[in-house]
Amino acid sequence: MIPFFPASLSLTFLLLPRPSLSLHPSQGVSLGDPVTLRCHLPRLAAWVWLYQEGGWLYPKGKEKEQDAAEFSFVSTLRVHAGRYRCQYRVSESAEVSVESDPVELVLTDLRYPPSSISLHPEQHVGTGTNVTIRCWNKDYGATFLLHKDGSSEPIQRQDSSGGGTATFTLFGVTPADSGIYRCSYRPWHYAFMSSPLGDTVMLEVTPTAAPPGGPPGPKHTTDPIVHPQTH
Ligand SMILES: *[C@@H]1O[C@H](CO)[C@@H](O)[C@H](O)[C@H]1NC(C)=O
Repeated sequence: MIPFFPASLSLTFLLLPRPSLSLHPSQGVSLGDPVTLRCHLPRLAAWVWLYQEGGWLYPKGKEKEQDAAEFSFVSTLRVHAGRYRCQYRVSESAEVSVESDPVELVLTDLRYPPSSISLHPEQHVGTGTNVTIRCWNKDYGATFLLHKDGSSEPIQRQDSSGGGTATFTLFGVTPADSGIYRCSYRPWHYAFMSSPLGDTVMLEVTPTAAPPGGPPGPKHTTDPIVHPQTH
């Protein structure tokens, strides 16, 4: 008897492991730079597709089965910025894998004016101080990203309020928050385009407590008023 599986399609999806997609270089790609999207195949595959969300489909047939497929843009254009996924098919069947997790290709357009930045209350503060960093552009509605030198990912992101400004707060800073900060922004109308990194501010946090004016510290818990004499 020939087996008949009405559910064979969903069974197939479980059998072909999910590919993964990576971007090279992984960040800091400017408009006009080359970039490669590499689809890593957990099984040798004959066909690989790269999808751009809401955009193009890039199919690729391999002459020889391979464990990765590369899709390269020699010179990136604005239309290449976006969110990508890949998918593959093995040669001996029509089985198609599930899609990879998405990867975002963000392109820096050096024509966007860099973000301005200011820091409050001052560059040198004591541990426990709340520090605010304000970033602004020339009134583009945008999402601002706060970068700290030495961190590969932005440490905070925030939509601008009126006037093209975003205000980031670092609550109760410690010496580990010392460093150099900059902002970039992504205009709302071009979510995958970025300004270059802007001006820098430096923060130096000393290990001493913040000066008076903050909330009551732990020392107040031993204040005599906590242990009243009630004879
Ligand atoms: C820091 O901000 C938090 C939340 O607004 C506030 O509760 C706290 O009192 C502030 N600390 C200082 C030292 O100002």
